[in-house]
Amino acid sequence: MRKMRRKGLASMAVQTVASTSNPTVDLGPATALSCRECGHRVPLGPVFACEECFGPLEIAYDFAAYDTEELRKRIESGPANIWRYAPLLPVPADVADKPNINPGWTKLVKADNLARELGVTGGLYVKDDSGNPTHSFKDRVVAQALEAARAFGFTTLSCSSTGNLAGAVGAAAARAGFRSCVFIPHDLEQGKVVMAAVYGGELVGIEGNYDDVNRFCSELIGDPAGEGWGFVNVNLRPYYAEGSKTLAYEICEQLGWRLPDQIVVPIASGSQLTKIDKGLQELIKLGLVEDRPYKIFGAQAEGCSPVSTAFKAGHDVVRPQKPNTIAKSLAIGNPADGPYVLDIARRTGGAVEDVTDEQVVDAIKLLARTEGIFAETAGGVTVGVTKKLIEDGVLDPSLTTVVLNTGDGLKTLDAVAGTGLTATIRPTLESFRDAGLV
Ligand SMILES: Cc1ncc(COP(=O)(O)O)c(C=O)c1O
Ligand SMILES: [Zn+2]
Repeated sequence: MRKMRRKGLASMAVQTVASTSNPTVDLGPATALSCRECGHRVPLGPVFACEECFGPLEIAYDFAAYDTEELRKRIESGPANIWRYAPLLPVPADVADKPNINPGWTKLVKADNLARELGVTGGLYVKDDSGNPTHSFKDRVVAQALEAARAFGFTTLSCSSTGNLAGAVGAAAARAGFRSCVFIPHDLEQGKVVMAAVYGGELVGIEGNYDDVNRFCSELIGDPAGEGWGFVNVNLRPYYAEGSKTLAYEICEQLGWRLPDQIVVPIASGSQLTKIDKGLQELIKLGLVEDRPYKIFGAQAEGCSPVSTAFKAGHDVVRPQKPNTIAKSLAIGNPADGPYVLDIARRTGGAVEDVTDEQVVDAIKLLARTEGIFAETAGGVTVGVTKKLIEDGVLDPSLTTVVLNTGDGLKTLDAVAGTGLTATIRPTLESFRDAGLV
């Protein structure tokens, strides 16, 4: 079933590589694209599906020459952004000199107040990716895709987006002098629309949900109208996806080169979660962290919970769902990496759980009230799921736990509409006293 779903994509991928691939491209330690299903290898190029089995392609590297302590020193003396990890990413050696949005090295907040509320004793941290240039973790993946687009000679950047990605692409294209034309569902939050439009690129609303937008982009890629376009999450997806590894690298480095015991990650397509696992595995293989068990937990909103539904049912395929949730950034009903998320949650001893929209809102307020972090709905999903997993005895409160906040609450203000003035008074002490605040 998985393979049938990929068939259409694979034929488009082959067309794309024929017109634009450049086998001599130098992307540092990246050596090839390798099929996640069958291991078939092809040269680095703007392709995303295996010509043999239609499986997804990912970046293969040669890290053999790295000495662990030299690599650690090189990373630690690198810039305070994702390029400190350039030796582990598909980018040219001089990447730091190129115009890019340079995201990353966001705060890992020790969330002691939240820990007290949730009864976590082993150390609770929030990796706060709202601190990126366009206020979501998507800047990490777009920064990678931009370098790949440059290497392959694309001049237009595009994507299908649930909102945050559109803004990240718009900003990166503006900085790097690319044209951008991005596609979103027509009914996204105002904050997402403005954040995507303000950088001056073209922003197109599609009448439909994200899965319709994605289908449309897949068609556009195979059409002359989309020729020469770098779709960051389609034909550049193998490069794009690697950006999420930097979350894993940063978390471990910020913990003093130590693996956390438990990580709670939001799921839309599932790409981010799979690459966090890949990043952790690489750090272990490179000897940068001690090899010990960790658990990865996936978080969804109940109104778009195809992966958590499959996890709870014990299935290894994900049945598509029509999304209906306020967590619009996670509203992908047919998640491309869903089956791999299930594999990772099961292999590491984690789980995939979902929360209602009401629990999402409560969790946004809980995080704001305890830690001064205003998360978007995706952050409400991870905090809400963390709370639920602790209450259900699935997440161990005595272990070091990292919860991801991947976006900024200012983009999803409607979720907390009704939060506002405590009182309206005249500018007099009498009126203040009358309001009952002293
Ligand atoms: C804020 C936020 N968090 C998490 C995700 C999930 O990303 P992925 O599609 O890699 O699962 C998205 C995707 O759009 C997002 O916007
Ligand atoms: Zn294959």
